[in-house]
Amino acid sequence: MAVLPAFFGLLLAVFVSGQNVDITPREAVIRIGGELRVLCKVPYPIDSCRMTVGTTSYRLLPDNLQGDVVYTGQGLKSGECGALIKNVLEEWNGNITCVLPPQTGNIELKGTMRLLVARAPGAPELRAPMQTFRDGDKFSAQCVVPDGRPAAKITWYLGDVELLQGVHQPILTSEPGSDLQTVSQNVSRTLTDDDDSRMLVCRAEHLALDQPREAKRQLIVQYPPKRQEFGTITIFGLKLGAEGRLNVTVRANPPPTAEWTVGDQILPAPRRSDAGDFTALEPLNMGNGFFNITLIVARVAKEDVDRTYYLRVDNGLGREEFAVRISTMDEPAGVELDTGAIVGIVVGVLIVLIAVSLGVFAFATDRWCFAGRSHRTDIPDGADSEAPLPPHDDIKGSENPSHDHGDYISNGDTKHPEKKPDTAV
Ligand SMILES: *[C@@H]1O[C@H](CO)[C@@H](O)[C@H](O)[C@H]1NC(C)=O
Ligand SMILES: *[C@@H]1O[C@H](CO)[C@@H](O)[C@H](O)[C@H]1NC(C)=O
Ligand SMILES: *[C@@H]1O[C@H](CO)[C@@H](O)[C@H](O)[C@H]1NC(C)=O
Ligand SMILES: *[C@@H]1O[C@H](CO)[C@@H](O)[C@H](O)[C@H]1NC(C)=O
Repeated sequence: MAVLPAFFGLLLAVFVSGQNVDITPREAVIRIGGELRVLCKVPYPIDSCRMTVGTTSYRLLPDNLQGDVVYTGQGLKSGECGALIKNVLEEWNGNITCVLPPQTGNIELKGTMRLLVARAPGAPELRAPMQTFRDGDKFSAQCVVPDGRPAAKITWYLGDVELLQGVHQPILTSEPGSDLQTVSQNVSRTLTDDDDSRMLVCRAEHLALDQPREAKRQLIVQYPPKRQEFGTITIFGLKLGAEGRLNVTVRANPPPTAEWTVGDQILPAPRRSDAGDFTALEPLNMGNGFFNITLIVARVAKEDVDRTYYLRVDNGLGREEFAVRISTMDEPAGVELDTGAIVGIVVGVLIVLIAVSLGVFAFATDRWCFAGRSHRTDIPDGADSEAPLPPHDDIKGSENPSHDHGDYISNGDTKHPEKKPDTAV
Protein backbone atom coordinates (compact mmCIF):
# COMPACT_ATOMS: atom_id res chain seq x y z
CA MET A 1 0.00 0.00 0.00
CA ALA A 2 2.96 2.28 0.47
CA VAL A 3 3.82 1.76 -3.19
CA LEU A 4 1.27 4.22 -4.46
CA PRO A 5 2.42 7.30 -2.50
CA ALA A 6 6.02 6.43 -3.36
CA PHE A 7 5.10 6.28 -7.05
CA PHE A 8 3.40 9.66 -6.88
CA GLY A 9 6.43 11.05 -5.04
CA LEU A 10 8.68 9.87 -7.85
CA LEU A 11 6.36 11.26 -10.50
CA LEU A 12 6.33 14.61 -8.68
CA ALA A 13 10.12 14.67 -8.45
CA VAL A 14 10.47 13.96 -12.17
CA PHE A 15 7.85 16.56 -12.95
CA VAL A 16 9.49 19.21 -10.74
CA SER A 17 13.00 18.61 -11.99
CA GLY A 18 11.79 18.50 -15.59
CA GLN A 19 9.98 21.75 -15.14
CA ASN A 20 12.81 23.59 -13.49
CA VAL A 21 15.37 23.21 -16.24
CA ASP A 22 14.35 24.92 -19.41
CA ILE A 23 16.27 23.30 -22.30
CA THR A 24 16.27 24.47 -25.89
CA PRO A 25 16.02 23.03 -28.40
CA ARG A 26 14.24 19.88 -27.32
CA GLU A 27 15.24 18.12 -30.47
CA ALA A 28 17.72 18.82 -33.27
CA VAL A 29 18.76 17.10 -36.47
CA ILE A 30 22.37 17.82 -37.35
CA ARG A 31 24.65 16.43 -40.04
CA ILE A 32 27.88 14.73 -39.07
CA GLY A 33 30.48 17.46 -38.61
CA GLY A 34 27.79 20.06 -37.99
CA GLU A 35 27.35 22.39 -35.06
CA LEU A 36 24.71 22.60 -32.35
CA ARG A 37 23.94 24.99 -29.52
CA VAL A 38 22.05 23.68 -26.51
CA LEU A 39 20.98 26.01 -23.72
CA CYS A 40 19.69 25.13 -20.26
CA LYS A 41 18.29 27.86 -18.04
CA VAL A 42 17.21 28.20 -14.44
CA PRO A 43 15.92 31.40 -12.83
CA TYR A 44 18.73 31.72 -10.26
CA PRO A 45 22.53 31.99 -10.36
CA ILE A 46 24.45 28.74 -10.62
CA ASP A 47 28.03 27.81 -9.86
CA SER A 48 28.45 24.77 -12.10
CA CYS A 49 27.32 23.54 -15.48
CA ARG A 50 27.76 20.07 -16.91
CA MET A 51 26.66 18.59 -20.20
CA THR A 52 26.59 14.94 -21.20
CA VAL A 53 27.21 14.48 -24.89
CA GLY A 54 27.43 10.90 -26.09
CA THR A 55 28.95 9.00 -23.20
CA THR A 56 31.12 11.87 -21.99
CA SER A 57 30.17 14.34 -19.29
CA TYR A 58 31.73 17.76 -19.90
CA ARG A 59 32.26 20.39 -17.24
CA LEU A 60 31.59 23.70 -18.96
CA LEU A 61 33.41 26.83 -17.83
CA PRO A 62 32.70 30.22 -19.46
CA ASP A 63 36.43 31.03 -19.62
CA ASN A 64 37.54 27.77 -21.18
CA LEU A 65 36.66 27.66 -24.86
CA GLN A 66 38.99 24.82 -25.86
CA GLY A 67 37.65 21.70 -27.52
CA ASP A 68 34.53 20.64 -29.39
CA VAL A 69 32.12 21.08 -26.47
CA VAL A 70 32.42 24.51 -24.85
CA TYR A 71 30.37 26.85 -22.70
CA THR A 72 27.96 29.25 -24.31
CA GLY A 73 25.44 31.57 -22.67
CA GLN A 74 25.11 34.76 -20.63
CA GLY A 75 27.17 33.41 -17.75
CA LEU A 76 26.53 31.20 -14.77
CA LYS A 77 25.21 34.18 -12.76
CA SER A 78 22.33 34.47 -15.21
CA GLY A 79 21.46 30.83 -14.57
CA GLU A 80 22.52 29.84 -18.09
CA CYS A 81 24.30 26.60 -18.84
CA GLY A 82 24.78 26.23 -22.58
CA ALA A 83 26.99 24.15 -24.81
CA LEU A 84 28.32 24.94 -28.23
CA ILE A 85 28.91 21.51 -29.75
CA LYS A 86 31.16 21.48 -32.80
CA ASN A 87 32.08 18.68 -35.19
CA VAL A 88 29.08 16.55 -34.32
CA LEU A 89 30.01 12.87 -34.29
CA GLU A 90 27.82 10.00 -35.40
CA GLU A 91 28.09 8.38 -31.94
CA TRP A 92 26.59 11.46 -30.30
CA ASN A 93 23.26 10.50 -31.75
CA GLY A 94 20.94 10.25 -28.73
CA ASN A 95 20.27 12.29 -25.63
CA ILE A 96 22.20 15.36 -24.55
CA THR A 97 21.69 16.13 -20.90
CA CYS A 98 22.62 19.21 -18.93
CA VAL A 99 23.15 18.96 -15.20
CA LEU A 100 22.70 22.03 -13.00
CA PRO A 101 22.85 22.64 -9.24
CA PRO A 102 19.46 23.01 -7.51
CA GLN A 103 18.32 26.25 -5.92
CA THR A 104 17.88 24.45 -2.62
CA GLY A 105 18.68 20.96 -1.40
CA ASN A 106 21.31 18.69 -2.86
CA ILE A 107 19.66 16.89 -5.81
CA GLU A 108 21.03 18.05 -9.16
CA LEU A 109 18.60 19.11 -11.89
CA LYS A 110 18.70 17.68 -15.38
CA GLY A 111 17.42 18.75 -18.73
CA THR A 112 17.45 16.41 -21.72
CA MET A 113 17.21 17.05 -25.43
CA ARG A 114 17.38 14.67 -28.31
CA LEU A 115 20.08 14.97 -30.92
CA LEU A 116 19.48 13.13 -34.16
CA VAL A 117 22.69 12.87 -36.09
CA ALA A 118 21.40 12.72 -39.63
CA ARG A 119 22.23 9.59 -41.54
CA ALA A 120 21.55 9.29 -45.22
CA PRO A 121 18.90 6.76 -46.18
CA GLY A 122 19.43 3.97 -48.66
CA ALA A 123 18.44 4.27 -52.30
CA PRO A 124 14.72 4.79 -52.91
CA GLU A 125 12.94 1.84 -54.38
CA LEU A 126 9.91 2.28 -56.60
CA ARG A 127 7.51 -0.62 -56.61
CA ALA A 128 5.05 -0.39 -59.44
CA PRO A 129 3.53 -3.00 -61.70
CA MET A 130 5.62 -3.54 -64.83
CA GLN A 131 2.90 -3.50 -67.39
CA THR A 132 1.18 -1.68 -70.16
CA PHE A 133 -1.90 0.15 -68.99
CA ARG A 134 -5.10 1.29 -70.62
CA ASP A 135 -6.46 4.79 -70.16
CA GLY A 136 -8.89 4.70 -67.26
CA ASP A 137 -6.92 2.00 -65.45
CA LYS A 138 -6.31 2.41 -61.74
CA PHE A 139 -2.65 2.56 -61.03
CA SER A 140 -0.80 2.48 -57.77
CA ALA A 141 2.83 2.52 -56.83
CA GLN A 142 4.82 2.42 -53.67
CA CYS A 143 8.12 4.06 -52.90
CA VAL A 144 10.30 2.84 -50.06
CA VAL A 145 13.28 4.77 -48.75
CA PRO A 146 15.04 2.63 -46.16
CA ASP A 147 17.11 3.37 -43.10
CA GLY A 148 17.34 7.10 -42.77
CA ARG A 149 17.81 9.06 -39.60
CA PRO A 150 15.42 10.73 -39.45
CA ALA A 151 13.14 9.27 -42.12
CA ALA A 152 13.62 10.69 -45.62
CA LYS A 153 11.01 12.94 -47.18
CA ILE A 154 9.35 11.58 -50.28
CA THR A 155 7.95 13.71 -53.09
CA TRP A 156 6.36 12.38 -56.26
CA TYR A 157 6.59 13.73 -59.77
CA LEU A 158 4.86 12.81 -62.96
CA GLY A 159 7.03 14.24 -65.69
CA ASP A 160 8.09 17.63 -64.40
CA VAL A 161 4.95 18.19 -62.36
CA GLU A 162 4.76 17.38 -58.70
CA LEU A 163 2.01 14.89 -57.94
CA LEU A 164 -0.19 16.14 -55.14
CA GLN A 165 -3.39 14.22 -55.70
CA GLY A 166 -3.61 10.57 -54.84
CA VAL A 167 -0.55 10.71 -52.61
CA HIS A 168 -1.14 8.68 -49.46
CA GLN A 169 0.20 9.33 -45.99
CA PRO A 170 3.81 8.26 -45.52
CA ILE A 171 4.28 5.28 -43.23
CA LEU A 172 7.34 5.07 -40.97
CA THR A 173 8.74 1.81 -39.71
CA SER A 174 11.95 0.79 -38.01
CA GLU A 175 13.67 -2.39 -37.01
CA PRO A 176 13.40 -3.16 -33.31
CA GLY A 177 16.32 -1.62 -31.45
CA SER A 178 17.30 0.59 -34.39
CA ASP A 179 16.84 4.33 -34.60
CA LEU A 180 16.95 4.24 -38.42
CA GLN A 181 13.61 4.77 -40.07
CA THR A 182 12.22 3.40 -43.27
CA VAL A 183 9.54 5.46 -44.95
CA SER A 184 7.11 4.16 -47.51
CA GLN A 185 4.46 6.05 -49.38
CA ASN A 186 1.87 5.04 -51.94
CA VAL A 187 0.35 6.92 -54.80
CA SER A 188 -2.72 5.97 -56.73
CA ARG A 189 -4.13 7.45 -59.86
CA THR A 190 -6.52 6.84 -62.69
CA LEU A 191 -4.39 6.85 -65.81
CA THR A 192 -5.20 9.00 -68.80
CA ASP A 193 -3.79 9.08 -72.30
CA ASP A 194 -1.72 12.09 -71.28
CA ASP A 195 0.15 9.90 -68.80
CA ASP A 196 1.56 7.79 -71.60
CA SER A 197 5.37 7.92 -71.73
CA ARG A 198 5.50 10.09 -68.65
CA MET A 199 8.11 9.36 -66.03
CA LEU A 200 6.85 8.60 -62.56
CA VAL A 201 9.51 9.76 -60.13
CA CYS A 202 9.88 9.12 -56.43
CA ARG A 203 12.29 11.66 -55.01
CA ALA A 204 13.89 11.18 -51.60
CA GLU A 205 15.22 14.22 -49.79
CA HIS A 206 17.24 14.12 -46.63
CA LEU A 207 19.42 16.44 -44.63
CA ALA A 208 22.36 14.08 -44.97
CA LEU A 209 22.03 13.98 -48.76
CA ASP A 210 23.61 16.72 -50.81
CA GLN A 211 21.41 15.78 -53.76
CA PRO A 212 17.97 14.22 -53.69
CA ARG A 213 17.92 10.62 -54.84
CA GLU A 214 15.34 9.38 -57.29
CA ALA A 215 13.74 6.20 -58.51
CA LYS A 216 11.86 6.35 -61.80
CA ARG A 217 9.49 4.39 -63.93
CA GLN A 218 8.16 5.27 -67.34
CA LEU A 219 4.44 4.72 -67.72
CA ILE A 220 3.02 3.13 -70.81
CA VAL A 221 -0.65 3.85 -71.34
CA GLN A 222 -2.52 2.70 -74.41
CA TYR A 223 -5.65 4.38 -75.67
CA PRO A 224 -7.88 4.35 -78.72
CA PRO A 225 -7.36 7.01 -81.41
CA LYS A 226 -8.30 10.51 -80.27
CA ARG A 227 -9.11 13.28 -82.64
CA GLN A 228 -7.41 16.63 -82.24
CA GLU A 229 -10.10 18.70 -83.97
CA PHE A 230 -13.82 18.30 -84.05
CA GLY A 231 -16.30 18.35 -86.86
CA THR A 232 -15.39 18.31 -90.51
CA ILE A 233 -11.73 19.10 -91.11
CA THR A 234 -11.05 21.54 -93.89
CA ILE A 235 -7.67 21.72 -95.54
CA PHE A 236 -7.16 25.17 -97.01
CA GLY A 237 -4.90 26.66 -99.60
CA LEU A 238 -4.94 23.88 -102.20
CA LYS A 239 -4.46 24.86 -105.86
CA LEU A 240 -6.41 23.44 -108.76
CA GLY A 241 -4.11 21.39 -110.95
CA ALA A 242 -1.41 21.08 -108.30
CA GLU A 243 -0.66 18.32 -105.83
CA GLY A 244 -2.72 18.50 -102.65
CA ARG A 245 -1.95 17.01 -99.29
CA LEU A 246 -4.70 16.24 -96.83
CA ASN A 247 -3.17 15.73 -93.43
CA VAL A 248 -4.97 14.86 -90.23
CA THR A 249 -3.37 14.56 -86.82
CA VAL A 250 -4.54 11.86 -84.43
CA ARG A 251 -3.22 10.68 -81.15
CA ALA A 252 -3.14 6.97 -80.45
CA ASN A 253 -1.15 4.24 -78.76
CA PRO A 254 -0.49 1.71 -80.16
CA PRO A 255 0.08 3.26 -83.62
CA PRO A 256 -3.08 3.39 -85.72
CA THR A 257 -3.76 2.05 -89.16
CA ALA A 258 -5.45 4.43 -91.56
CA GLU A 259 -7.96 3.89 -94.32
CA TRP A 260 -9.14 6.62 -96.68
CA THR A 261 -12.35 6.49 -98.63
CA VAL A 262 -12.49 8.67 -101.76
CA GLY A 263 -15.72 8.28 -103.64
CA ASP A 264 -16.01 4.51 -104.02
CA GLN A 265 -12.29 3.86 -103.65
CA ILE A 266 -10.99 2.52 -100.39
CA LEU A 267 -7.30 3.10 -99.73
CA PRO A 268 -5.81 1.40 -96.68
CA ALA A 269 -2.53 3.21 -95.96
CA PRO A 270 0.04 2.88 -97.42
CA ARG A 271 -1.59 2.50 -100.82
CA ARG A 272 -1.77 4.30 -104.15
CA SER A 273 -5.02 4.17 -106.08
CA ASP A 274 -4.99 2.18 -109.30
CA ALA A 275 -5.26 5.31 -111.40
CA GLY A 276 -2.46 6.87 -109.37
CA ASP A 277 -4.56 9.90 -108.52
CA PHE A 278 -4.59 9.33 -104.74
CA THR A 279 -1.87 8.08 -102.40
CA ALA A 280 -2.52 7.21 -98.79
CA LEU A 281 0.73 7.54 -96.84
CA GLU A 282 1.74 5.42 -93.91
CA PRO A 283 0.81 7.24 -90.65
CA LEU A 284 3.83 9.32 -89.66
CA ASN A 285 4.81 9.04 -86.02
CA MET A 286 5.56 12.51 -84.68
CA GLY A 287 6.29 11.34 -81.15
CA ASN A 288 4.22 11.44 -77.96
CA GLY A 289 1.51 9.36 -79.60
CA PHE A 290 0.82 11.93 -82.32
CA PHE A 291 0.47 10.69 -85.88
CA ASN A 292 0.24 12.65 -89.06
CA ILE A 293 -1.98 10.84 -91.52
CA THR A 294 -1.75 12.10 -95.07
CA LEU A 295 -3.59 11.56 -98.33
CA ILE A 296 -1.93 12.99 -101.43
CA VAL A 297 -4.16 14.13 -104.27
CA ALA A 298 -1.94 14.01 -107.35
CA ARG A 299 -3.70 16.87 -109.19
CA VAL A 300 -6.47 18.71 -107.45
CA ALA A 301 -9.47 18.91 -109.75
CA LYS A 302 -12.79 20.69 -109.31
CA GLU A 303 -14.56 17.48 -108.28
CA ASP A 304 -11.87 16.79 -105.68
CA VAL A 305 -12.79 20.05 -104.06
CA ASP A 306 -16.47 19.23 -104.09
CA ARG A 307 -16.23 15.86 -102.43
CA THR A 308 -15.80 14.77 -98.87
CA TYR A 309 -12.95 12.43 -97.99
CA TYR A 310 -13.44 9.97 -95.21
CA LEU A 311 -10.63 8.74 -93.02
CA ARG A 312 -10.95 5.88 -90.60
CA VAL A 313 -8.18 5.13 -88.10
CA ASP A 314 -8.06 2.08 -85.93
CA ASN A 315 -5.48 0.84 -83.45
CA GLY A 316 -7.18 -2.25 -82.12
CA LEU A 317 -8.48 -0.44 -79.04
CA GLY A 318 -10.95 1.67 -80.92
CA ARG A 319 -11.53 3.61 -84.09
CA GLU A 320 -12.20 7.17 -85.09
CA GLU A 321 -13.65 8.53 -88.28
CA PHE A 322 -13.02 11.87 -89.91
CA ALA A 323 -14.63 13.77 -92.72
CA VAL A 324 -12.17 15.96 -94.58
CA ARG A 325 -12.89 18.65 -97.15
CA ILE A 326 -10.50 20.75 -99.11
CA SER A 327 -10.67 24.35 -100.13
CA THR A 328 -8.75 26.52 -102.56
CA MET A 329 -9.19 29.41 -100.16
CA ASP A 330 -6.21 30.54 -98.20
CA GLU A 331 -6.13 29.38 -94.65
CA PRO A 332 -8.58 31.58 -92.73
CA ALA A 333 -7.05 34.35 -90.70
CA GLY A 334 -8.68 32.88 -87.62
CA VAL A 335 -6.36 29.93 -87.67
CA GLU A 336 -3.11 31.84 -87.84
CA LEU A 337 -3.72 35.43 -86.76
CA ASP A 338 -5.01 35.37 -83.25
CA THR A 339 -5.90 39.05 -83.01
CA GLY A 340 -7.53 38.87 -86.43
CA ALA A 341 -9.54 35.90 -85.27
CA ILE A 342 -10.70 37.68 -82.14
CA VAL A 343 -11.70 40.79 -84.08
CA GLY A 344 -13.44 38.58 -86.64
CA ILE A 345 -15.36 36.70 -83.99
CA VAL A 346 -16.38 39.91 -82.23
CA VAL A 347 -17.54 41.43 -85.51
CA GLY A 348 -19.35 38.21 -86.40
CA VAL A 349 -21.09 38.06 -83.04
CA LEU A 350 -22.05 41.73 -83.31
CA ILE A 351 -23.51 41.20 -86.76
CA VAL A 352 -25.51 38.24 -85.54
CA LEU A 353 -26.69 40.20 -82.50
CA ILE A 354 -27.70 43.18 -84.65
CA ALA A 355 -29.43 40.87 -87.08
CA VAL A 356 -31.32 39.09 -84.32
CA SER A 357 -32.33 42.28 -82.55
CA LEU A 358 -33.36 43.99 -85.80
CA GLY A 359 -35.27 40.89 -86.76
CA VAL A 360 -37.04 40.76 -83.44
CA PHE A 361 -37.68 44.47 -83.61
CA ALA A 362 -39.05 44.31 -87.13
CA PHE A 363 -41.17 41.30 -86.27
CA ALA A 364 -42.48 42.84 -83.08
CA THR A 365 -43.31 46.13 -84.72
CA ASP A 366 -44.80 44.34 -87.72
CA ARG A 367 -42.34 46.02 -90.05
CA TRP A 368 -41.14 42.79 -91.54
CA CYS A 369 -40.36 43.80 -95.09
CA PHE A 370 -40.70 40.26 -96.40
CA ALA A 371 -44.03 39.69 -94.79
CA GLY A 372 -45.25 37.87 -97.86
CA ARG A 373 -42.62 35.14 -97.57
CA SER A 374 -42.51 32.36 -95.08
CA HIS A 375 -39.99 33.17 -92.37
CA ARG A 376 -40.97 30.75 -89.74
CA THR A 377 -37.83 28.74 -90.22
CA ASP A 378 -35.65 31.82 -90.56
CA ILE A 379 -36.52 33.52 -87.34
CA PRO A 380 -35.04 31.12 -84.78
CA ASP A 381 -31.72 30.87 -86.59
CA GLY A 382 -29.80 34.12 -86.32
CA ALA A 383 -27.31 33.13 -89.00
CA ASP A 384 -29.89 32.24 -91.61
CA SER A 385 -32.06 35.22 -90.87
CA GLU A 386 -29.26 37.49 -92.03
CA ALA A 387 -29.73 36.66 -95.66
CA PRO A 388 -33.32 37.76 -96.19
CA LEU A 389 -32.72 41.16 -94.61
CA PRO A 390 -31.44 43.63 -97.18
CA PRO A 391 -29.79 45.94 -94.61
CA HIS A 392 -27.64 43.10 -93.39
CA ASP A 393 -26.74 41.96 -96.81
CA ASP A 394 -25.35 45.44 -97.21
CA ILE A 395 -23.34 45.14 -94.02
CA LYS A 396 -22.08 41.71 -94.89
CA GLY A 397 -21.70 42.49 -98.55
CA SER A 398 -18.73 44.75 -97.95
CA GLU A 399 -16.68 42.07 -96.27
CA ASN A 400 -18.24 39.08 -97.91
CA PRO A 401 -18.70 39.60 -101.58
CA SER A 402 -18.57 35.90 -102.44
CA HIS A 403 -21.52 35.04 -100.28
CA ASP A 404 -23.73 33.78 -103.03
CA HIS A 405 -21.18 31.95 -105.08
CA GLY A 406 -22.77 28.98 -103.49
CA ASP A 407 -19.80 26.66 -103.85
CA TYR A 408 -17.11 25.14 -101.66
CA ILE A 409 -15.11 28.36 -101.67
CA SER A 410 -18.00 29.58 -99.57
CA ASN A 411 -17.62 33.00 -98.03
CA GLY A 412 -15.00 35.18 -96.46
CA ASP A 413 -16.61 34.51 -93.14
CA THR A 414 -14.31 31.56 -92.63
CA LYS A 415 -14.29 31.92 -88.89
CA HIS A 416 -17.36 29.72 -89.04
CA PRO A 417 -16.37 26.81 -91.22
CA GLU A 418 -19.36 24.86 -89.99
CA LYS A 419 -21.57 27.24 -91.95
CA LYS A 420 -20.01 26.17 -95.19
CA PRO A 421 -22.28 23.22 -95.87
CA ASP A 422 -25.28 25.58 -95.50
CA THR A 423 -24.07 27.88 -98.23
CA ALA A 424 -22.85 25.07 -100.45
CA VAL A 425 -26.09 23.13 -100.38
C1 LIG B 1 16.58 10.01 -23.67
O1 LIG B 1 15.67 10.83 -22.96
C2 LIG B 1 14.34 10.37 -22.97
C3 LIG B 1 13.52 11.39 -22.21
O2 LIG B 1 13.79 12.67 -22.68
C4 LIG B 1 14.26 9.03 -22.30
O3 LIG B 1 12.94 8.55 -22.36
C5 LIG B 1 15.18 8.06 -23.00
O4 LIG B 1 15.19 6.83 -22.34
C6 LIG B 1 16.58 8.62 -23.06
N1 LIG B 1 17.39 7.75 -23.85
C7 LIG B 1 18.59 7.32 -23.43
C8 LIG B 1 19.32 6.43 -24.38
O5 LIG B 1 19.04 7.66 -22.36
C1 LIG C 1 0.82 0.47 -50.53
O1 LIG C 1 0.98 -0.39 -51.63
C2 LIG C 1 1.41 -1.71 -51.30
C3 LIG C 1 1.60 -2.48 -52.57
O2 LIG C 1 1.66 -1.65 -53.69
C4 LIG C 1 0.38 -2.36 -50.42
O3 LIG C 1 0.84 -3.64 -50.05
C5 LIG C 1 0.16 -1.53 -49.18
O4 LIG C 1 -0.86 -2.06 -48.42
C6 LIG C 1 -0.20 -0.09 -49.57
N1 LIG C 1 -0.24 0.69 -48.38
C7 LIG C 1 -1.19 1.57 -48.17
C8 LIG C 1 -1.12 2.33 -46.91
O5 LIG C 1 -2.07 1.79 -48.98
C1 LIG D 1 -0.88 19.70 -91.98
O1 LIG D 1 0.44 20.07 -92.35
C2 LIG D 1 0.72 21.44 -92.17
C3 LIG D 1 2.09 21.69 -92.64
O2 LIG D 1 2.24 21.30 -93.96
C4 LIG D 1 0.57 21.79 -90.72
O3 LIG D 1 0.80 23.16 -90.54
C5 LIG D 1 -0.81 21.46 -90.27
O4 LIG D 1 -0.89 21.67 -88.87
C6 LIG D 1 -1.10 20.01 -90.52
N1 LIG D 1 -2.47 19.76 -90.16
C7 LIG D 1 -2.80 18.74 -89.43
C8 LIG D 1 -4.24 18.59 -89.13
O5 LIG D 1 -1.94 17.96 -89.04
C1 LIG E 1 2.09 16.08 -91.93
O1 LIG E 1 2.29 15.53 -93.19
C2 LIG E 1 2.25 16.46 -94.25
C3 LIG E 1 2.33 15.72 -95.52
O2 LIG E 1 3.03 14.55 -95.41
C4 LIG E 1 3.40 17.42 -94.09
O3 LIG E 1 3.37 18.39 -95.09
C5 LIG E 1 3.24 18.11 -92.76
O4 LIG E 1 4.36 18.94 -92.52
C6 LIG E 1 3.14 17.10 -91.64
N1 LIG E 1 2.78 17.84 -90.45
C7 LIG E 1 3.56 17.82 -89.40
C8 LIG E 1 3.06 18.62 -88.24
O5 LIG E 1 4.58 17.16 -89.35
